[in-house]
Amino acid sequence: MADVFDKCRAWTRVRDAVTAGIMPYGHVIEDLVDGTEAVVGGRKVVMLGSNDYLGLSADPRVKAAAQEAIDRYGTSCSGSRLLNGTRPVHGEFEQRIADFLGREAAVVTATGFQTNLAISTLLGHGDVVLTDRGNHASLVDAARLGFAEHRRYRHNDVEHLAWLLDTSGADRGKVIVTDSTFSIEGDLCDLPAIVRLAREHDARVVLDCAHDLGVLGAHGRGAPEHFGLESQVDLVTGTFSKAFGSTGGLIAGSREVVDFIRHLGHPAVYSAAMPPAAVAAADMALQIIEQEPERRTRLLDIAERLHNGLRALGFDTGRSTTHVVPVLIGDETLCLRFWTALLDAGVFTNAFVTPALPADKTMIRASVLATHTDTQLDQALEAFARVGRELGVIPATPPRTYEPVMTARPVTA
Ligand SMILES: Cc1ncc(COP(=O)(O)O)c(C=O)c1O
Repeated sequence: MADVFDKCRAWTRVRDAVTAGIMPYGHVIEDLVDGTEAVVGGRKVVMLGSNDYLGLSADPRVKAAAQEAIDRYGTSCSGSRLLNGTRPVHGEFEQRIADFLGREAAVVTATGFQTNLAISTLLGHGDVVLTDRGNHASLVDAARLGFAEHRRYRHNDVEHLAWLLDTSGADRGKVIVTDSTFSIEGDLCDLPAIVRLAREHDARVVLDCAHDLGVLGAHGRGAPEHFGLESQVDLVTGTFSKAFGSTGGLIAGSREVVDFIRHLGHPAVYSAAMPPAAVAAADMALQIIEQEPERRTRLLDIAERLHNGLRALGFDTGRSTTHVVPVLIGDETLCLRFWTALLDAGVFTNAFVTPALPADKTMIRASVLATHTDTQLDQALEAFARVGRELGVIPATPPRTYEPVMTARPVTA
């Protein structure tokens, strides 16, 4: 007789990788030295595997704000916002984040993943949701949870999106949902084309700015500000677990849509509120983001150096123009070996293999923080060079030329 647990017994990937000594997941980070270095297996390594892009999770002001909130409110709300979990900090922060983004209202939830799942509330019977195939898993799951027809377009292929819109039925409610900065490949969505198509087809645009809120745009308002298209994006979602150095998620938009999600979105209603300490940390991070634009400048500078340093060695960093720097490896086992050898050489990164990517298109993801030093970056590049040559990912001698990357800096800077 079939047993639903059979698949677990048959699934040996992790055991195989551990046995082979090439397991890149679940390592204990024993310590994080100001976020830029990690202690793993008792060794200090350069941390290129964090999303703490502005280095704020280690900032004394952010830590103090969280500690004060714990003293004032305790460690948990022990319940949902609607029932018993709303403390003064929630409403105040929601208004501040809405004001920052130039939106009428915002709602915060315990994680960015939950925030995105709440989009499913908008996807009714008869509607169509159009999503990029490269979207984050939380957006994929949101589309699956909703009642709308789910149509997926090839990654960043706006012609495919146009065709899907053309064939979706003029009278149906339509919404385009996409990452603004794709989380593995670090490339930006083609927002100008997406909003144009949305206008032509009376579709709404929902943008997950998880990786670029606080980072892109002259004021850190993310990809919509970077492209000068804030007024044409209907709903912005994001997370506080990356540039904000905290944890939690947000949805910002018109008051009626935000209130609808706040009262009907299951992840907002049936789950405990964002802890006050996380709210206070994100709130302090917001103030720093507004007051210290030099962090964004530094991040995009150092990311550009990483991209171009890797490219000069012969690595392929794909189509990213952001601080999320993919290094294309190809074969899956090679990717796991590469990750392990890099750690041995003193650099912690992230490995992406199946099911996140096809087995022959695996990647290492490196991400810098505004607080990394040039010396740390040089150490990382040296390790990449050594491991890349040893494993035959790059040629023994660097290419004579390479196409340089310019990161997505604000147009006005
Ligand atoms: C694009 C994107 N959206 C949403 C999330 C989820 O955010 P959180 O970690 O706050 O749940 C992530 C996290 O990796 C992400 O990369």
